[in-house]
Amino acid sequence: MIIKPLRKAVFPVAGLGTRFLPATKAMPKEMLTVVDKPLIQYAVEEALAAGIEQVIFVTGRGKSALEDHFDVSYELEATMKARGKSMALIDGIRQKPGSPVYVRQQEPLGLGHAVWCAREIVGDEPFAVLLPDELMVGGFMKQMVAAYDRLGGNVIGALEVPDSETDKYGIISPGKQDGRVTEVTALVEKPARGTAPSNLMIPGRYILQPEVMTILDGQKPGAGGEIQLTDAMAQLIGRQPFHGFTFDGQRYDCGDKGGYIEANLALALARDDIGPRVRAFAQTLLG
Ligand code: G1P
Repeated sequence: MIIKPLRKAVFPVAGLGTRFLPATKAMPKEMLTVVDKPLIQYAVEEALAAGIEQVIFVTGRGKSALEDHFDVSYELEATMKARGKSMALIDGIRQKPGSPVYVRQQEPLGLGHAVWCAREIVGDEPFAVLLPDELMVGGFMKQMVAAYDRLGGNVIGALEVPDSETDKYGIISPGKQDGRVTEVTALVEKPARGTAPSNLMIPGRYILQPEVMTILDGQKPGAGGEIQLTDAMAQLIGRQPFHGFTFDGQRYDCGDKGGYIEANLALALARDDIGPRVRAFAQTLLG
């Protein structure tokens, strides 16, 4: 089996962010900051640290702040230079010419549809998908790439959740397990309570073969009336290697208000500059 190197990553960023209104009325939800960095930058940095060369944003109307964030900011840079200020915090955000590439998802028809919108740019190569709502500390994609380089085929995240949460996610039917790697025998998107085949959910990290795009060409709407990536991936099982990978690190669901606050608190406490102050304040607040 030839294992093609992974070079491209798709970031679906067209979502409306209704769960975060009013904050996201005029601002993309991916620009919400955890401490001082927007969610999208955490996700892009995670991909680059895993060796990704081509960043692909599947975007939509009202998302131009994302494009600006990864571009040059002449006024800002000139002013900072003139004032002798360090550029350390903005250096490196700008990508090499030709990356990111932007494609638009004109209608919110589901995650599968969003990924399919990138098919021309992905072409005939394996690709990663990262959902920036989920902030991963510890280099999830890098660990997945190491597993992919051994296993080939498709490698998706696999994390345990309590029974009460299995209806919120794509769920894996597990086969043989070997350390952090689990064979995937079936996938189901948002199973009704009490019907989940396991507690292993799919967090928003995927390494997929390009054949999934062909399946998405004809994919009918599934759970919630949306075109589901999970349904298309399920059809690859048995035709190509398909594994789940359990991450050694921390996942914060920043698509949820509670998870977003937890991420801010955890990352602030871990910082040398503001950590001690935040810790002292939290302790006072909690009595
Ligand atoms: C999407 C996927 C789901 C996955 C989840 C991870 O669901 O469809 O399989 O488990 O992301 O966050 P969504 O959160 O968009 O409903």
